[in-house]
Amino acid sequence: MYFKLGSTRMKRLEELRVKIFADGAEKEGMLELARLPYVKGFTTNPTLMRKAGVANYAMFAQEIVAAIPDRPLSFEVLADEFEEMERQARLISGWGSNVYVKIPITNTRGESSCPLIARLTAAGLKLNVTALLTLEQVHAACEALRGTSGAFVSVFAGRIADTGVDPVPVMAQAVSIVNRLPCVELLWASSRELLNIFQAEVIGCHIITVTHDILRKLTLVGKDLTAYSLETVQQFYHDACAAGYAL
Ligand code: E4P
Repeated sequence: MYFKLGSTRMKRLEELRVKIFADGAEKEGMLELARLPYVKGFTTNPTLMRKAGVANYAMFAQEIVAAIPDRPLSFEVLADEFEEMERQARLISGWGSNVYVKIPITNTRGESSCPLIARLTAAGLKLNVTALLTLEQVHAACEALRGTSGAFVSVFAGRIADTGVDPVPVMAQAVSIVNRLPCVELLWASSRELLNIFQAEVIGCHIITVTHDILRKLTLVGKDLTAYSLETVQQFYHDACAAGYAL
């Protein structure tokens, strides 16, 4: 599969530097996506699990770990007290060597998780520090992740965009902060559209996680826009006919 970078350059999907992860919690969909070589990892979160109807978190996660042992999988702690978060982080980390434990940057009272992140990092756990929206948080997370053997910093670019702020310059600055540390990768989270993959690629972001719906749109990449326009006209015409509309 090919795509356009800028106006002329064409690149194969497999040649992208940014690693594409799949964001979701539907087991069948995840297993299907695991067959695609360009899906390099998976992320989940409690909201996605709830939406997918996951009833037993540990069972769901362990089934995914058994089925996908060769790519990073991120599972989030559920607690709000740091002591309990730590217990859960150690438990989740034990599910597999490819598991990254998602630790929110603060608890629900806005208290920083950085001391916990530093402790878990010193204990050798691989973390995915999640729910960051500011560069101050990126700085703090990176400080706490010093010495890690592997970690992701997830900045929710889509939520930044939801507030009317262009996330690209923010993400570009986040790349340069994260690049100061070895073994830490910036993850573009909360993608909103396929274009985000190309934006992440251009700024040198290490990873982007995209929903299964966005991944399905990859077949549109590089599509001729005149042909796409014609298909759009045809779609509206056929739907008008199928609905039996008349004026
Ligand atoms: C990342 O790991 C998160 O699961 C995800 O991208 C959340 O995005 P949202 O803003 O759509 O909730």
